[in-house]
Amino acid sequence: ARRALIVVAAGSGERLGHGRPKACVDLGGRPILAHVMERLHGLAQGLPTQDPAHQDPSHQDGAVRGLDAVVLVLPSDQVSYDQLATVGEQFSAATGVSVHHTRGGGSRSSSVRAGIRELLRAAAADWDPARTTVLIQDAARAMTPEAVYARVFAAVEAGAAAVVPALPVTDTIKRVHAEPSATPGAERVAETVPRSSLRAVQTPQGFTLELLQQAFDFIGDLPDAQAETLTDEAMIAEAMGVEVTMVPGSQSALKITTAEDLAAAQATLAQRET
Ligand code: C5P
Repeated sequence: ARRALIVVAAGSGERLGHGRPKACVDLGGRPILAHVMERLHGLAQGLPTQDPAHQDPSHQDGAVRGLDAVVLVLPSDQVSYDQLATVGEQFSAATGVSVHHTRGGGSRSSSVRAGIRELLRAAAADWDPARTTVLIQDAARAMTPEAVYARVFAAVEAGAAAVVPALPVTDTIKRVHAEPSATPGAERVAETVPRSSLRAVQTPQGFTLELLQQAFDFIGDLPDAQAETLTDEAMIAEAMGVEVTMVPGSQSALKITTAEDLAAAQATLAQRET
């Protein structure tokens, strides 16, 4: 069995408003991407993860499963690319895991596709796709704990073709009417959605390499407009009729999107360091 990780870090970070790609933005003195990688040292080397929510089966059969390859999908401007490639090189030097870099595309989906192409080109050409697990992580979820990666790897290796981490929804969720309210800037409530059956999905999302290859063949055959509505690989699996398995996510895996999110991540970091 093989384990690969693709980190998509090519987003523009427009909503963060720093005028540079999000993965490069400073969080406690290091670029956001460095925080993703920092949490992966144990996993990279196949060390057992302390995970209260799930037993890490990495060592059950005596096999130490580290990471076989990492692909970082980076912004195309040279300054950002070079800065983030350095993060990858440092991770590789510290862990011995081979790290490959490639440039992303105009959408998350095209960046994921670039990552898979690079994985196949640089490392996985002769790996068995049915026995290769690929995790896809958003760089924006910088604080995702190692245990979540371990859970997703374990679920795929236990036989699930597609796995997402998720948390129960704690807010009350309402659906709104498409047409605006008579009050300017307001909306009209259509109904309250029962939240007991709702989950908020995070990353890393995990798949067999075989399913990922089938997924991109599948969307290649769809009209563009339809393909664009499938914004992550788990949605493609659902559209293909493949069952998607859910494992517990983490409160720490917050997605950094706005300046407030960045401030919250900064506060969490500061708390840890005192
Ligand atoms: O924009 P959003 O926060 O939804 O992006 C989710 C993840 O996908 C981020 O980690 C971002 O860097 C990545 N992404 C990418 N290429 C794009 C758009 C987003 O790698 N063109």
